[in-house]
Amino acid sequence: MPKPFHLAWFTNFTPGDWLTPFNHGGSPWDGKFFIEMAQAMERAGFDYIMLEDTLMVSEAYGGTAEAALKHCLQVPKHDPIPLAAMIAAATSRMGVVATMSTMSWPPFMLARVSTTLDHIAGGRFGWNIVTSGEDAAAQNFGMEELPAREKRYAMADEYVDLVCRLWESWQPDAVIKDRERGVYADFTKVQPVHFEGEFFKCRGPLNTVPSPQGRPTFVQAGGSPRGRKFAAKHADSIIATANGIAGMKQYRDEVREHAARFGRDPDDVKVLYLVYPVLGETGDEARAKYQRMVSSDNFIEAALASVGSITDIDFSKYSLDEPLPRITTNGEQGSLDKFAQWGSGKTLRQLASERFDSGLDLIGSPDEVAERMAAAIDAIGGDGFLISTPFQRISRRFITEICEGLVPALQRRGLVRSEYRGATLREVLREF
Ligand SMILES: Cc1cc2nc3c(=O)[nH]c(=O)nc-3n(C[C@H](O)[C@H](O)[C@H](O)COP(=O)(O)O)c2cc1C
Repeated sequence: MPKPFHLAWFTNFTPGDWLTPFNHGGSPWDGKFFIEMAQAMERAGFDYIMLEDTLMVSEAYGGTAEAALKHCLQVPKHDPIPLAAMIAAATSRMGVVATMSTMSWPPFMLARVSTTLDHIAGGRFGWNIVTSGEDAAAQNFGMEELPAREKRYAMADEYVDLVCRLWESWQPDAVIKDRERGVYADFTKVQPVHFEGEFFKCRGPLNTVPSPQGRPTFVQAGGSPRGRKFAAKHADSIIATANGIAGMKQYRDEVREHAARFGRDPDDVKVLYLVYPVLGETGDEARAKYQRMVSSDNFIEAALASVGSITDIDFSKYSLDEPLPRITTNGEQGSLDKFAQWGSGKTLRQLASERFDSGLDLIGSPDEVAERMAAAIDAIGGDGFLISTPFQRISRRFITEICEGLVPALQRRGLVRSEYRGATLREVLREF
């Protein structure tokens, strides 16, 4: 039997599918749709559900919010933290990961809400550590523009150091509940941190009881060279976007080298690659479905506006029928590199139509896609996939195709778990 790989799901608190013939209405604001989704994923044995988040209404495409609002690109987007609490309470084995930006959350509040969530989740909470990547988000927090990437990561390093100290400000055995002496917590085991860094200052201690994991599981997605180092230093799981087997292998090899240099066991860093499988009863049916999607009228515009919203680049300025000139971003550089396929000579229209192509050809019947996933992981070396769907247009139908079509095909081959063994999310990630 091959070594199994990991599966997580990349989603967010946005409308989901409201457009195709099998949509769920596009107003999932009471959170119940996501509970159903998480329960289906838990039955299928996923490691975690990952709730992405951003904090702005993008005007990157054409200088107005028209494209973002027309195609529901990152907006409307509701807050992932209450949703994470609901999902945690409605599941019992799968991890629940929510995104919080080091730019927007005061460290004390982040440490506190993470501990609260890790208790509610019984040790299954994860924090997706992001620094935010858009000027529009920075402007919602009193800044003129996003700090440069180097500074954002320097701040994030210090931030992680501080929140870890806050989580350690209570010794694990501080709560004694000694009824004879009438002592709930031993004050000698709860100490201030007196943190004074370059960017943050905090007295501590935290005012919460240590959670089952002590600190939440750390998830991270840095794609730039600096981001990969940050991820390798801190993350239990890295969510990565990369092109094809070669790009994925290069990414994983690099973060594993960095992790070893930081004195970590590289096997403790699970790298999951973002993929967008398209499933049908047969390969032909799946390919027809894919072609229908990428040739639809608004797909190209939505694809360009969506990559523009996370890179702060106005792609409406470039000709659709020419290659994209070399450009860089202070936003998501890794996502830009993946999108632009530098050196391929493809026109912008081609790039847009391939926006959600992982280069692994995950279009086919469940058995075909399972075989290709297995071959890819074998060639890359590990560690698994992050399932998603274009523009987060998620439907019950797609959830069923993945959880009751693809996952059983993977399970039949022994490629993914059929039952959980670990209790906490960190333990689940380290099962294999
Ligand atoms: C799969 C994936 C998920 C991400 N999720 C978020 C997110 O929820 N919120 C966010 O602000 N950035 C998110 N990002 C952006 C990353 O945190 C990071 O900023 C980006 O990959 C660019 O890398 P860099 O910061 O090293 O340039 C995500 C990136 C990837 C590839």
